Parts: sequence; structure tokens; C-alpha cells
Amino acid sequence: MTDLQAIRDQFPAIDGETVYLDSAATTQKPQAVIDCITHYYRNQNANVHRGTHSLTALATSRFESARETVARFINASSEKEIIWTRGATEALNLIAQTYARNQLQPGDEILVSEMEHHANIVPWQIVAEQTGAKVVKVPMGEGCQFNLDAFRALINSHTKIVAVAQVTNVTGTVLPLNDIIAITRANSQAVVVVDGAQGVVHQRTNVQTLDADFYVFSGHKLYARGYWRTVWQASPTRSNATMAWWRKNGRKGLV
Ligand SMILES: Cc1ncc(COP(=O)(O)O)c(C=O)c1O
Repeated sequence: MTDLQAIRDQFPAIDGETVYLDSAATTQKPQAVIDCITHYYRNQNANVHRGTHSLTALATSRFESARETVARFINASSEKEIIWTRGATEALNLIAQTYARNQLQPGDEILVSEMEHHANIVPWQIVAEQTGAKVVKVPMGEGCQFNLDAFRALINSHTKIVAVAQVTNVTGTVLPLNDIIAITRANSQAVVVVDGAQGVVHQRTNVQTLDADFYVFSGHKLYARGYWRTVWQASPTRSNATMAWWRKNGRKGLV
């Protein structure tokens, strides 16, 4: 049996009487994470990738090993596929501006479900306005389910991006990603962007079997310190979706 008290005991912020029911927004942090952050600032703080002294070397090595840990967590084929961002919101904007903006033409379509978080709608509306493309929404099915028939009817050769959640924060619906991706591949050349911000918390995610082009999620909903999030980008051998340079700091994406 799960020892709930032992789990509660790991979270100083919910010690005592507090009941916290907002983990979908952000999780409280366990003592191990708090200790790790404190240890870092007390002993290892330095600029990453920008120095020659030993603290920089240590900080850089820990920073890069975190990328390997995240790659393993979602079964990416290489840590080079992992890009740090400040938010799932920023990650989706990054894809919109560094991939979609260069690719979309007037008349192209971006398919999003009606159940998306605004972070997975607004970046597409902005890039649609910039390029003359159009955002098309897939209406919700009965019982708040994803409407696969409507999706099948809407996808066509003009569809260049399909952007859907793994699990929606709006209704809690688990989207049938395998079906969505199979239908996309069979009927279009569209790139698939999956917003895993809620899904990664509840499902084991294997980006290699998922077969999306981009997968985005938030560390702060997974007990990590605030404000690190991730974009996974499929390797060039799996996907043609290449991102343009951004802020030119030596890596694609931000860091
Ligand atoms: C499904 C979904 N996508 C995106 C986001 C935005 O995440 P972030 O706060 O990391 O920008 C959230 C936040 O609640 C979410 O639930």
C-alpha cells in the first residue's frame, strides 16, 4: 500500500493542514529538489558554457547531464534533441517562430483541437497572421472526447501543422494521439506538435514510438524547480521539421 504520509512528508509546503489541489498548474517541490537547488547555489553556481574555471566546468557538466536525464525520461534518441525553454508557452512560441514562420504560406492550415490550452492556440494565431496561414479548430466530440471523425474530415493537403495536447487541461480528456498521428501521416505532410504539459505527468511518454515531430512539456509540473521546460525535437533522421537559429548562442532554440 502507498504510504501517503511518507509522500506528504517530502513536501515541506504541504506539511501540516494544507491541502494542495493545483498540481496541474504547478507542483509543490519535494525536499530533494529544494536541497539540490540549495546545494547548487551554495557550492556550484557559475555560468554554464561561458567560462574556463572549474565551477563553470562543473555547472556545465551538471546542466548537460540534466539534458541526458530528460532525454532518457521521454526516450529521446539523443540529448541533442532536448532544448531548454522557460515555459511550455515559450516552447510552443519557439516552434511557431523558428519552424512554422519559415514554412507556412498563405492558404496553409494549422489544425488545433478546441480543447487546447491558450499556449497551444495563440502562438499559431500569431504565426498565421504573419504568414497568411489559417488556424482551423477541430470541434469537441461528445462527452468532451476528441472528435476523430471531424479531424479526419478537416485534415487535407493544406494542413501543414497539427497541434494537439496529450491530455487537455480544459476537460482532462486524454487525446488519441496514436490515431491522430496515423491519420495525419496518411493524409498530409503536416508536422505534428504535441503539448505534453499535462500528459507527461500521467503517462509514460516514449517520443520514439509516438512519432510526433515536436513534443513540449513543463518541468515545473513534474516537481522540478520553477521555470524549466522542454521542447523535444525529432532528429533529422525522423523528421524534416528543422528549426531556424534563435538568439544565436550556439545551440538551436534557447539553450
Ligand atoms: C496543456 C497545457 N499546455 C501548456 C501550458 C502552459 O505551460 P507553462 O506554464 O509551462 O508555459 C499549460 C499550463 O497549465 C497546460 O496545462
